[in-house]
Amino acid sequence: MIQIPRGTQDILPKDSYKWQFIEDTLKDVCEKYNYQEIRTPIFESTDLFVRAVGDTTDIVNKEMYTFKDKGDRSMTLRPEGTAPVVRSYIENKMYGDPNQPIKVFYNQPMFRYERQQKGRYRQFVQFGVEAIGVEDPLIDVEILSMLMAFYESFGLKDLELHINSIGDFDSRKEYQKALQEHFRPSIDEFCSDCQSRIDSNPMRILDCKKDKNHPLMATAPKITDYLNEESLSYYEKVKSQLDKIGIKYVEDPNLVRGLDYYTHTAFELMSTSDGFGSITTLAGGGRYNGLVEMLDGPKETGIGFALSIERLLLALEAEGIEIKNPHTLDLYVVTIGEEARDYASVLLSRLRKNKLTVDMDYKARGVGAQFRDADRKGATYTIVLGDNELETGQVKLKHMATGEEVETSIENLGEAIK
Ligand code: HAM
Repeated sequence: MIQIPRGTQDILPKDSYKWQFIEDTLKDVCEKYNYQEIRTPIFESTDLFVRAVGDTTDIVNKEMYTFKDKGDRSMTLRPEGTAPVVRSYIENKMYGDPNQPIKVFYNQPMFRYERQQKGRYRQFVQFGVEAIGVEDPLIDVEILSMLMAFYESFGLKDLELHINSIGDFDSRKEYQKALQEHFRPSIDEFCSDCQSRIDSNPMRILDCKKDKNHPLMATAPKITDYLNEESLSYYEKVKSQLDKIGIKYVEDPNLVRGLDYYTHTAFELMSTSDGFGSITTLAGGGRYNGLVEMLDGPKETGIGFALSIERLLLALEAEGIEIKNPHTLDLYVVTIGEEARDYASVLLSRLRKNKLTVDMDYKARGVGAQFRDADRKGATYTIVLGDNELETGQVKLKHMATGEEVETSIENLGEAIK
């Protein structure tokens, strides 16, 4: 038997309503914040992610689904959504649109070859937002407020917003030097990835999964001590504005994120719920001031974040928040005999045109089994169609929950249900 690839999952018909509800709720929040949907291809040139996410990151080094197409071009299934959005922003000259900033959201599958565990998949759906074309602490605050609105709209409470500033490029240069001085004397005690990162990108050492418990990690210099005046005042403004609108946060000077394009504001939302499991990050994002230029676009900046629907579902489960199945079946037609079945199929097609959700038995079951089927399918009403009903044109409309019956003509059935 062929099995589903490791790290992927089927979303079965009995569960898909949860996904639809989550996606609709998130889209409603986007509507309030005036963000419109963007859809980009599932695969892109490999180079896009190498340049944007960074060639020393785990995503690019270890986790990408990369393949040669028949034209010998290197393609990659997208591991994240920001680089494709920025590519599209540049390619479609959105920077020339009079309507600025460009505010978009996406709801698309992403692919990372990671070790599967609870909350970590090889194909997962990211719901993300990006605001491109403005550098203003107030838009950073809008993005953070949207992040919280996403989760609060489901009634989730066990949340902790971690924020940090990783400064501008100048501040970062100083910080990278300090990290090199800190780690270099003992770099032999670190994994081979970290040994090469010390020269190419020392900040990546801080989010190494293998060496995270090495004592030098806890004593490493903090980026916040290396922020220049401009970076500090940007960070201060973001924090004071968050205070004004009542968004609680924890300052986390160790938060550096796993992608290279970030500058200034960086953040992650964690679940503090007991039942959540060991991976507690629900969402992550930040500002990316150099990315548009790095991808050969104009000098424009952006900020955004992404969450995975899979982890949002885990958070709902951990906090015991149930999503009700909104599906209803207005009518189930129980049939007796061949003639009644033929007639029912015509009747159903008429009622569906009348905007009713209706169903019948297609397995020629007995009357009792059909009633049980109606019950299982959650039918609000049933009718029985047999020779007698076909002759008189009258049926008894039965309300399944109360057992109450009302006599009506088949002609008026739709109206009677409504
Ligand atoms: P990221 O932190 O790599 O950031 O991923 C964002 C979110 O995607 C995570 O917080 C998590 O919810 C989800 N996620 C990541 N990997 C997995 C996985 N293997 N299984 C399930 N869920 C996962 C980014 O991707 C950035 N593009 C976010 C961003 C947008 N920054 C600015 N704009």
